[in-house]
Amino acid sequence: MGPSMRPLPLVDRYEGEASAAAAPAAERPPPRAAGRRLYVETFGCQMNVLDSELVVGALRREGYEPTEDRKRADLVLFNTCSVREHAEDKVWSRLGELKPQKRRNPDLVIAVLGCMAQAHKDEILRRAPHVDIVCGTRDFPRLPRLVEGVERERAPVVAADLTHPVDIERDVTVRGDRHSAYVTVMYGCDFACTYCIVPHTRGAEVSRPVAEVKREVERLAADGVREVTLLGQTVDGYGKGLPGRPDLGDLLEAIHDTPGLERIRFITSHPSLMREPILRRVASLDKVCEYLHMPAQSGSDAVLARMRRGYTAARYREIVDRARAFVPDVAIASDFIVGFPGETERDFEATARLVREVGFSQAYVFKYSPRPFTPAYEGLEDDVPEDAKRERCTALLAVQEEVQARLHRDLRGRRLEVLVEGRSKNDARKLAGRTRQNRVCCFEGDDALVGSTVAVEVTGSTALTLFGTLVGAGPPPSGRGFG
Ligand code: SAH
Ligand code: SF4
Ligand code: F3S
Repeated sequence: MGPSMRPLPLVDRYEGEASAAAAPAAERPPPRAAGRRLYVETFGCQMNVLDSELVVGALRREGYEPTEDRKRADLVLFNTCSVREHAEDKVWSRLGELKPQKRRNPDLVIAVLGCMAQAHKDEILRRAPHVDIVCGTRDFPRLPRLVEGVERERAPVVAADLTHPVDIERDVTVRGDRHSAYVTVMYGCDFACTYCIVPHTRGAEVSRPVAEVKREVERLAADGVREVTLLGQTVDGYGKGLPGRPDLGDLLEAIHDTPGLERIRFITSHPSLMREPILRRVASLDKVCEYLHMPAQSGSDAVLARMRRGYTAARYREIVDRARAFVPDVAIASDFIVGFPGETERDFEATARLVREVGFSQAYVFKYSPRPFTPAYEGLEDDVPEDAKRERCTALLAVQEEVQARLHRDLRGRRLEVLVEGRSKNDARKLAGRTRQNRVCCFEGDDALVGSTVAVEVTGSTALTLFGTLVGAGPPPSGRGFG
């Protein structure tokens, strides 16, 4: 999944809802941590974004109040990512910045969660002894108890056991967005792409039962959520180990009729697992968006083999063709790594060709970063110079920009269904939302439309954004786009 780095937006909708419980407010003791302030920063992919939301939800129940001002916080959480060195460097430097704050306020509790916590466990306490809690990717539901323990005992703790089941109360979630929600449907990853640290940080693959996911989606929809995005590192491999061996298609079908729900997405797909029963459901189920995030990583067979991706570039093209045969309008987004060990100019050209030919709706491009605990780190020399990595990254992004600008121009004059997310960040007069193909679309309209699906006619575009005019409000007549 395309990792991004953004602090978690917090909303106040659960404020005070706890007082709806049976006992009158006066008889209940105040929550344990009433009045304490919590600062959270989330790095990495959507899985971390969701895990942070769940943790914040649990801590709010204990009385913590989110703050955007780190300096005033009593509890600081960093939910971290290890996928590239840069992501880790950022957290190490943030931890450094906290040292004087901890010196001034020894009661400050600092917790490192997520993939770095899992990968570096004890090293974190060695390199940053002012950290109190190191909490791995399957232990985050225990965080409130760990915080309580640290506040009592004042001794640092490490909880990072990948054999733990993830068990967290979902309905206390504080979501960043009222209308759109992530739902993790599988944990971990059983692939072994040679560059990737995720299997090490997230452990072996475990799918959540269909009924459990269904209940969660129903609860979210009842709470106003219009769009769910199902999360898994290889989400199209969903179902392994579950009784009756359901697949992702079965899961999509099971949640499809949820009242109030309008859109279903799923990320990230592994090309080798994108089988017909899934494509058939993407084609036939109205609420399932025509969007696949299905990273190719490279267009060179030699590089793909060294990455151990399990397909060639020709096979990848066939998988794309088959997806388009089932779902004609499907948008396909991809990730690419440039400068993988041994990548030549010719290899890179093959990747650029793939980008031009497939016509990806979006492409995230990353410079190879050797990661400890991965096969490539152990066995392949990081031999592409930094300059070449940077040039290839820029060049590939330029190719993608051309492709995207062309695809967007082709959409002018079309009517598209847009789920309105809020005001545009670049132009407050406009609303911004996403099309079913996950393209950003801006148009003039009233705030009351936020959270609903509307019809927009595309009148202009850049490589990044579509612009249009509102031609209709309310859900689409057929459910399947507007034409
Ligand atoms: N499960 C997803 C990817 C998770 S990591 C999948 O299989 O597609 C997100 C992206 O980070 C990957 O798709 C890859 O493009 C990139 N990435 C992973 N490890 C990397 C590394 N060591 N250096 C640079 N980019 C990397
Ligand atoms: Fe990493 Fe590969 Fe698993 Fe994706 S499929 S998480 S790239 S090992
Ligand atoms: Fe996600 Fe980064 Fe972990 S991409 S799975 S938070 S290493």
